[in-house]
Amino acid sequence: MLDKLIRKRGGRQEAEAPDPADAGSRGVPGHVAIIMDGNGRWAKKRALPRIAGHHEGMKTVRKITREANRLGVKVLTVYAFSTENWKRPKPEVEFLMKLPDEFLGTYLPELIEQNVRVEMIGDYESLPPHTKRAIRRAMDETASNDGLILNFAMNYGSRAELAGAVKEIARSVKEGTVRPEEINEAMIAEALMTAHLPEPDLLIRTSGEVRLSNFMLWQLAYTELWFTDTLWPDFGEADLREAIDVYRARNRRYGGIGKEEVK
Ligand code: FPP
Repeated sequence: MLDKLIRKRGGRQEAEAPDPADAGSRGVPGHVAIIMDGNGRWAKKRALPRIAGHHEGMKTVRKITREANRLGVKVLTVYAFSTENWKRPKPEVEFLMKLPDEFLGTYLPELIEQNVRVEMIGDYESLPPHTKRAIRRAMDETASNDGLILNFAMNYGSRAELAGAVKEIARSVKEGTVRPEEINEAMIAEALMTAHLPEPDLLIRTSGEVRLSNFMLWQLAYTELWFTDTLWPDFGEADLREAIDVYRARNRRYGGIGKEEVK
């Protein structure tokens, strides 16, 4: 698990307490999470190796970060590598592990200029040393930035994260600092790697796949979902704006009823 120092840095951000009756049109989502899918198919369509798709996908991360920041999004979480992605052929895994080096090596100065803070959720310790160095350096150099948080889900798996949270709470019970009957949703949320972040308002998945793939299962409980057939390397600023427009027109009720229904 990524250590507490990393995930608790900065303390919990203001997560808007959802008012069930607060339905109607909304502003820009504070937290947008993206499952960036379709790099392999993008490459295949062009008779290129799969890694060419990942490389192009990296450039899309740059583009979408800039646009999200411009639109006023506060947190952008991108699913860059899952705990299951280790099953891919070794050369592809090695390439994916080098992408943070290249991305941050190339774009860190402009991220700093844009006041972006780089963060990560996932199993940091099991990453190759060069990947860790790149991420650590970017996190350190952007630590005092207070603009958009670009949060990489890297070697991330939601079930592993939840298992880690359960272990942490179980330890507190064993030590006697928490009684089992005191365990509640807030305590679980606090034990997750996203403890310092608001829950995602909008989840985007590209490439036509309609599943969550072990991504932020707890955090997405009330998130608005938006799927597009567009492959990640083809995803552009206009696609992000379209997703946000759809989100803004949605009624979020959090299990309650809308204001107009309250009589
Ligand atoms: C899924 O597409 C994508 C991934 C497993 C990797 C996503 C990574 C990037 C977009 C680049 C990350 C950038 C940085 C800066 C770290 P897929 O390979 O499963 O595509 P397919 O379903 O078409 O085969």
